Amino acid sequence: MILSSKTCKRDVFYLINKYSGIVSKVETEMLLEYLFNCARIDLYIRNFSINETIEELYDSLISRRLNGEPVQYITGCAEFMGLDFIVTKDTFIPRPETEILVNELLNSPDKSFRILDLCTGSGNIAVSLAKLMPQIEVTATDISEAALKIAEKNAARHNVSERIKFYKGNVFNALVFDKNPKFDIIVCNPPYVKKAEFPYLQNEVKQEPEIALNGGGDGLDFYRIIAKESHRYLEKCGSILLEIGFGQKQALKDIFSLYNIFEIHKIIKDFSGIERAMWINLL
Ligand SMILES: C[S@@+](CC[C@H](N)C(=O)[O-])C[C@H]1O[C@@H](n2cnc3c(N)ncnc32)[C@H](O)[C@@H]1O
Repeated sequence: MILSSKTCKRDVFYLINKYSGIVSKVETEMLLEYLFNCARIDLYIRNFSINETIEELYDSLISRRLNGEPVQYITGCAEFMGLDFIVTKDTFIPRPETEILVNELLNSPDKSFRILDLCTGSGNIAVSLAKLMPQIEVTATDISEAALKIAEKNAARHNVSERIKFYKGNVFNALVFDKNPKFDIIVCNPPYVKKAEFPYLQNEVKQEPEIALNGGGDGLDFYRIIAKESHRYLEKCGSILLEIGFGQKQALKDIFSLYNIFEIHKIIKDFSGIERAMWINLL
């Protein structure tokens, strides 16, 4: 629905309201921040002049959004832990739920860690940990070279490149390049969508890289690898902090209990009350 511009005064509020009820206010603001290259607050306090070209540009951004393109791919930017991250179609879009993993580590009493971020994607976990915990060292790995390039850019953007080592490879295989692959914590938000669920994913999610979503037949492939191999890369009494999918808790407990070397320390719920993260200790 395109409203008649003749009857409306052309200021930012006109643009904010133009697609109200069709596109959410938050997404509208994100697109306008991108269009005017400004902070959200500026939309409300600065006086932007709106001409026809700007309105047409705005309409084209809205049309991409209405065609199912995630707003973060349109703007090339996603917010995570209050920081801006570059994202492209090669990277998974960081989700607010994943902030739980970072907050758990921030609130942990032991603050001097070597941390491994497996499946780093845009580097949102690795970079925010390095930024917010100046004493830690981080190693971040991913199988996607394109995603790793973006993660490296994000580390540079937040001035933490010197404290994060990035390696490419299949799960733990990437660590063959690390001189000292022993960590106090392994943190991971792996692909955990079941193959059978793919046709039912939201259109927006379908535009994210399949490799970032596909957790195999039952969604648990990566947890099995982590349960089997992590002890070789963990310091004594090290821990694993995992994001988990809806309803996966019991299956994960079963997988980790097979090895008799782990204890489930904590299950953490997200803002919707869904069990979203699991903290596992190596005994
Ligand atoms: C769900 S995304 C998580 C990205 C980011 N850590 C986050 O929390 O937003 C999963 C990531 O795992 C990576 N990945 C997929 N298969 C992999 C594999 N076999 N080895 C290492 N990384 C893999 C994908 O490229 C993707 O970046």
